[in-house]
Amino acid sequence: MRPYTRIFSTMTVDGRIASRTGYSRLSCEEDFTLQHSLRAWSDIVVVGSRTALADDPRLTVRRVPGRSPMRGVVDSRLRVPPTARMFTRPGGVLITVEGHGEERLRPYRERGVEIIQAGRGRVDLVQAWRLLYERLGVRRVMVEGGGGLNLGLLEKGLVDEVWVTVAPYVFGSGVSVFEGRGFDGLVEKGELRLLDVKVLCGGWVSLRYEVLRPRLPLDV
Ligand SMILES: NC(=O)c1ccc[n+]([C@@H]2O[C@H](COP(=O)([O-])OP(=O)(O)OC[C@H]3O[C@@H](n4cnc5c(N)ncnc54)[C@H](OP(=O)(O)O)[C@@H]3O)[C@@H](O)[C@H]2O)c1
Repeated sequence: MRPYTRIFSTMTVDGRIASRTGYSRLSCEEDFTLQHSLRAWSDIVVVGSRTALADDPRLTVRRVPGRSPMRGVVDSRLRVPPTARMFTRPGGVLITVEGHGEERLRPYRERGVEIIQAGRGRVDLVQAWRLLYERLGVRRVMVEGGGGLNLGLLEKGLVDEVWVTVAPYVFGSGVSVFEGRGFDGLVEKGELRLLDVKVLCGGWVSLRYEVLRPRLPLDV
């Protein structure tokens, strides 16, 4: 079994979530409200290690009523420190690989961080998602990037919905909303179906898609 998973990102018109120099402030007020209501919908919000290091996000619900979900990071090499802001409240989750010594994991445990270990070398996302479901009771995941984690999950068929907000900017380079080797476009490609379109703040566009393929069944 695996949890139902939504990706949420705000990108430029050219599909970038961060500029070459790491600038990533793209949301407007209504987009922040949408982001926080999606957090409140989820049992856990997950980011990749580079996003956690670049932005040190809190990942809590602040702009709408609702409880804050658990907060997780996919971090094979334990680069995100136990002092990260996402770990300062109860509900932090470190998703990493097997084989780290107990002395390296202890500082996280001492802060009450749950540790999920899946795969060797690099996190096995399919196994990690199964463990989130089985061990932590997670049924709904919201993924807030970055591009590397977004594509890693999509390639494994673990994403059910993609929510992107298009901000009226162009970076021309930087990190794409889906970043990595990618699909070759002929035999294999990610395929989505548009579910909803909304204009936010008079110029931002929120797009909600369902993933058609690749997509694993929820009861794998
Ligand atoms: N505008 C927005 O909405 C928005 C949202 C989020 C982020 N951002 C920006 O995006 C940038 C970061 O994005 P990014 O693409 O560089 O990094 P990322 O997706 O945040 O993190 C990628 C890292 O996740 C880890 N990972 C572990 N297992 C993985 C797997 N199986 N598949 C994929 N990743 C795995 C890898 O690190 P390890 O090898 O260390 O595990 C990988 O380097 C930052 O500049 C941030 O500010 C913008």
